[in-house]
Amino acid sequence: MHIMADPHAVQLDALKRRARAESIGFVPTMGFLHSGHRSLMDLVRPRCDHLVVSIYVNPLQFCPGEDLDEYPRDPEGDAELCSGAGVDLLFMPETLYEPGHASTVSVSGLTDGLCGARRPGHFDGVTTVVSRLFGLVQPTLAVFGEKDYQQLAVIRRMTRDLALPVEIIGAPLVRDTDGLALSSRNKYLSADQRIQAQSLSQTLFAIQAAVAAGNRDVRALLALGRTSLNVDRIDYLEIVDPDSLQPMDRVDRPARALVAAFVGQTRLIDNVALCPA
Ligand code: PAF
Repeated sequence: MHIMADPHAVQLDALKRRARAESIGFVPTMGFLHSGHRSLMDLVRPRCDHLVVSIYVNPLQFCPGEDLDEYPRDPEGDAELCSGAGVDLLFMPETLYEPGHASTVSVSGLTDGLCGARRPGHFDGVTTVVSRLFGLVQPTLAVFGEKDYQQLAVIRRMTRDLALPVEIIGAPLVRDTDGLALSSRNKYLSADQRIQAQSLSQTLFAIQAAVAAGNRDVRALLALGRTSLNVDRIDYLEIVDPDSLQPMDRVDRPARALVAAFVGQTRLIDNVALCPA
């Protein structure tokens, strides 16, 4: 496995590979890798000639007061995980932006609600960094986890709207044995907080079970969900159309339930598919 830090060297290498018709698979990350990230690598590895993972804690997607400075880092552990996953190139830039960087990629509509409403500017930061990474890494396919469900929808839309020649693959969310969705931020949780955090997935599963049992009324489903959330602050609990992300009144077709909540200072997100029988 090669490790590179220089964005231009990475781009040069990628362009040479593309000229030789090699396929490039790409897993962009912010590091502190866990088995959720590993599952993304495992999904892409058999589908490409050359597998690239990037690690970059992108300042543009953090809002003021968020955990940019404390974001957990483990470059050595990350390199070990990547090497074990058969990664060919680990791209770890010091910085990704040129001095005077002045361009923002912004997707409207899909970013209005959910995390977009609570984290102003967050998705502009994500789409700006992902489009720049696509320009550097020149992937033929890139994978993003369904854990960040809105992010995946926004990146799919950006890729389509800008006609970027990259196939976007959505990967299923990975949970720990206690149901908690894997996240680098779980590291912030104390033992007691971890028990509280389990109520996110428990709530979503309760909503899922209620839908499977025939409950279609979103207001009632959300009320049920709110009673089982044991968190310090609910950011949102919503049931939306899985493509447009618009709120629904009745679950009379496939839908997505999404939650964001604070346990202590830690903001956690989770989501599940709702399939009425
Ligand atoms: O999902 C993430 O880890 C980040 O938002 C991403 C896609 C790597 C962009 O910084």
